Amino acid sequence: MRRDSGEVEFAGVPASELAAQFGTPLFVIDEQAFRAAAIHTKQTIERAAASIGTTAKVYYASKAFLSTEIASWLQQDGLNMDVASGGEFAAALAGGMPAARMGLHGNNKSLREIGRAVTEGIGAIVIDSEIEIERIAAAAGAQEKIQPVRLRINTGVHANTHDFLATAREDQKFGIPIKDAPALVAKIRAERHLKFLGFHQHVGSQIFAAEGFVESARRLVRLHAQELAGGEIPELNLGGGFGINYKPADQAPTLEHFIGQIMDAVAEECKALGIGVPVLAFEPGRYIAGNAGVTLYNVGTIKDVSVTDGAEPAVRKYVSVDGGMSDNARPALYEAEYHCVLAGRSSDAEPALVRVVGKHCESGDIVVRHDYLPADVAPYDLVAVAATGAYCYSLSSNYNFLPKPPVVAVANGSARLIIRGETEADLFTRDLKYQSDAATRATNG
Ligand SMILES: Cc1ncc(COP(=O)(O)O)c(C=O)c1O
Repeated sequence: MRRDSGEVEFAGVPASELAAQFGTPLFVIDEQAFRAAAIHTKQTIERAAASIGTTAKVYYASKAFLSTEIASWLQQDGLNMDVASGGEFAAALAGGMPAARMGLHGNNKSLREIGRAVTEGIGAIVIDSEIEIERIAAAAGAQEKIQPVRLRINTGVHANTHDFLATAREDQKFGIPIKDAPALVAKIRAERHLKFLGFHQHVGSQIFAAEGFVESARRLVRLHAQELAGGEIPELNLGGGFGINYKPADQAPTLEHFIGQIMDAVAEECKALGIGVPVLAFEPGRYIAGNAGVTLYNVGTIKDVSVTDGAEPAVRKYVSVDGGMSDNARPALYEAEYHCVLAGRSSDAEPALVRVVGKHCESGDIVVRHDYLPADVAPYDLVAVAATGAYCYSLSSNYNFLPKPPVVAVANGSARLIIRGETEADLFTRDLKYQSDAATRATNG
């Protein structure tokens, strides 16, 4: 939102105040927006499940964005969490999320990750390959426990998204093909330290069309029905993947639309097969975190570059900011598109075609590929990039030895640091020569 002064504010805190207090680049998370999206998601899914005579569990996919503070919000707001590594599990536990409300994913979980999950009493482990059946059973057996597990299925449906975001087409690393599932379910059921909770799917991420979800859900319900012959299967986990708007022209369907279509398909399929509707689980990440985050950057240099990719020769302003692919890898990874605005002031200048780029040594280091900023955009202006709440901080790196930015939560006109920014000293904490040289210097005065 823009103030009368022309400056953009976030939950009542002006951009310039945030930049002055915390520096740039800066991740700004709107606490109310995040929590409202989490609660809305939970309620929408629960209501839709009730309408087809079942209940639902909503797991926030913590890979989208995680800190102990985020975990504590989700814990208070009644969501569950899915984690994809021992580190994510540790962060969620430290934030107060009970292990019983979590699910552990991963196509290559270490024995240590499995062991800790079992010890802490994790609610479910999602099996992604045959060898994990023995590994999880052994860990549970060693602790005299019965571990609930799901089996991730690759339904073979190609979700309509970027290839690297589609996770249920055939030639990729996640899940088990449907044809192999019966043998693996039998194997799970034969392990007395495992309890089979049900099947799992995740068809991909940033999906705009419901058809892929619907077809995949139908296939999974048929598999579920078929395997009921061998024993009860209480749940069915249909994953996440609901797309969000990144640019003003994007028109993501509502969550109600996606969920309604999926629920209708599940109910119809269950009815046709003569089975009860199982408890349904979903794992949205981006839908909850994405639009709650903004990144603030400071402009450093500006260059006008002639471009000839349209009908007419044109000039594109390359606006370089003080971060880049180390705080937002998505444009380089997935050709992701973003939208930016001038945040510290407004301007009546004509819009100019811009490309916002980072400061890294890669020509693919792009933050906003195509957008418009006022033509008088200048060094030291603040630029805000919208919808960076998901898969930006969590994918951040120290490329070119850039320290990771801080994260602040804004609410009701005030800002609170929830992750401090890295300092140059942080970059050397694990460099042993640096540390021993520093110790020597300190000893020698
Ligand atoms: C297994 C699983 N569940 C859920 C998600 C969350 O997806 P999204 O953030 O698109 O909702 C992912 C993301 O890759 C995933 O791999």
